[in-house]
Amino acid sequence: MRLKDKVAIITGGGRGIGEATCLRFAEEGAKVVVADVNETDVQQVVEKIKAAGGEATGMIVDVTHRAQVEKMVADTVATYGRLDILVNNAGITADARLEKMTEEQWDKVIAVNLKGVFNCGQAAAKVMIEQKSGVILNASSLVGIYGNFGQTNYAATKWGVIGMAKSWAKELGPKGIRVNAVAPGFIVTPMTEKMPEKVLEMMKEKSPLKTLGYPEDIANAYVYLASDEAKFVTGAVLSVDGGVVL
Ligand code: NAI
Repeated sequence: MRLKDKVAIITGGGRGIGEATCLRFAEEGAKVVVADVNETDVQQVVEKIKAAGGEATGMIVDVTHRAQVEKMVADTVATYGRLDILVNNAGITADARLEKMTEEQWDKVIAVNLKGVFNCGQAAAKVMIEQKSGVILNASSLVGIYGNFGQTNYAATKWGVIGMAKSWAKELGPKGIRVNAVAPGFIVTPMTEKMPEKVLEMMKEKSPLKTLGYPEDIANAYVYLASDEAKFVTGAVLSVDGGVVL
């Protein structure tokens, strides 16, 4: 029960890493707000948590819309009285090589992965500053640190959320709020299902552990960083990538 009675919002909580994080947080005793654009997925995750005896509320929210984000935070406080943890997990890809990437692909990814993180971080921080406590975790990526073929837009956002985490760590640390980023390697989720099999095989071979990662591997990193075990950790980027870049 490392997150007992903590109130946590997990964006993109409807599937993949977000879903695994919602389930692990609930197992650790957190009251979980499953926030996602996909209503069916949200409902399923909330039901799974409740069936396992945990506490959860679903919220349909598009992180690119500031009014929806502000409502999500206000509704969380109205329901549970506080907000202890925000996991900025919602993210998308729209891949193309530099010379082929459209403005629409660029704008779409920036809107969710960068502005969405800003919107949620800002709304959550206001509550956490009042409380004088809180934890914000941003989903970066191996790709944010090292770049990737066909992912100009995505890599820019994933490097960007590290910049935001470090800036917020400096601004909010004195107010009792810790901010960190997690940089997953290749994790088996609906997002990576779109990738060519041979690329995934190559990633598996490159890892000294000879395996891809699974959503639980990232969820466990979020549990640690959200818990008091990480009370001296802020402004950090935790790579959870099976050593694939070594
Ligand atoms: P996924 O595609 O399986 O799930 C993403 C979730 O975000 C979906 O439920 C989707 O509905 C939701 N979402 C998308 N746009 C949204 C919006 N505007 N507002 C609210 N929710 C929205 O993705 P996955 O693989 O679980 O990734 C989660 C996070 O981890 C992303 O930020 C991703 O960039 C990052 N990541 C994933 C890696 C991987 O290998 N799967 C590797 C490194 C980072």
